[in-house]
Amino acid sequence: MEKYNPFALDGKVILITGAAGGIGRATATECAKLGASLILTDINEDGLRSTLKQLEHQESHRYVIANLTIDEEIDNLVGEVDVLDGFVSNAGITKPMPVKFINRSDLERIMSINAMAPMCLTQRLLRKKKFSKNASIVFTVSVGGVYTTAFGNAMYGSSKGALQVFMKNVALESAISGIRCNSVNPGMINTGLLKPGTYSEEDRKKDMQTYPMKRYGEPREVALGIVYLLSDASSFVTGHSLIIDGGKTLY
Ligand SMILES: NC(=O)c1ccc[n+]([C@@H]2O[C@H](COP(=O)([O-])OP(=O)(O)OC[C@H]3O[C@@H](n4cnc5c(N)ncnc54)[C@H](O)[C@@H]3O)[C@@H](O)[C@H]2O)c1
Repeated sequence: MEKYNPFALDGKVILITGAAGGIGRATATECAKLGASLILTDINEDGLRSTLKQLEHQESHRYVIANLTIDEEIDNLVGEVDVLDGFVSNAGITKPMPVKFINRSDLERIMSINAMAPMCLTQRLLRKKKFSKNASIVFTVSVGGVYTTAFGNAMYGSSKGALQVFMKNVALESAISGIRCNSVNPGMINTGLLKPGTYSEEDRKKDMQTYPMKRYGEPREVALGIVYLLSDASSFVTGHSLIIDGGKTLY
């Protein structure tokens, strides 16, 4: 007898962006364990290869390299995809900067990767009818910008705020087709995004103390939230933001 598991992803085909590391890699790992077939994408081929190597049932998965800020590469990726049961739009970057030092090129880069790219890719996947009935879309947003403000977070927070609003509109317009759309909104998570140079060790330690749980999260703790939203366990959940932040937004 098969074990009861309402979170199973058996037979589901899922596209994951930003799959070369961090939350994307952890999501791929969990989805593969739960029986999904994955299409992984990222700009970083070495990272994609390492992710693929770590997955269970390797023969069921493949990767496509794409820079999601380039329209032709988005089109190529969409062309590589058949019908999707799940789409995790997760690629993103940050560059903390006080407002008075922001410049147009940084702002355009952050908006382009964090907001425009997921919007354009989602638009094309919908337009080309690449989603199955009952498909699930999940955006990796953030608590930053949407629920919290922090010094230096204006560019990143604004990009994630835009994505959060987009998520709700996709949910509204796609519900009639049975397609659900949600977001996960993590607090600080230990990934390459927090690489040395982005935040000092001292700032990280101080910031961790502002979390009721006194620590940052791990990528798997976000991945399992994404799994819930991809799975049939969340079949009546759409337009929702799942905060995964160790209680940061309780204050
Ligand atoms: N780590 C955190 O504290 C945290 C908190 C909240 C939200 N997030 C969000 O989680 C998501 C995943 O980030 P992460 O923390 O795993 O960091 P990460 O740096 O490990 O992963 C981001 C991935 O996006 C890819 N990427 C960047 N630019 C790209 C482009 N132009 N085209 C295609 N791929 C590109 C990178 O190569 C990388 O593999 C991001 O959207 C990030 O904003 C992270």
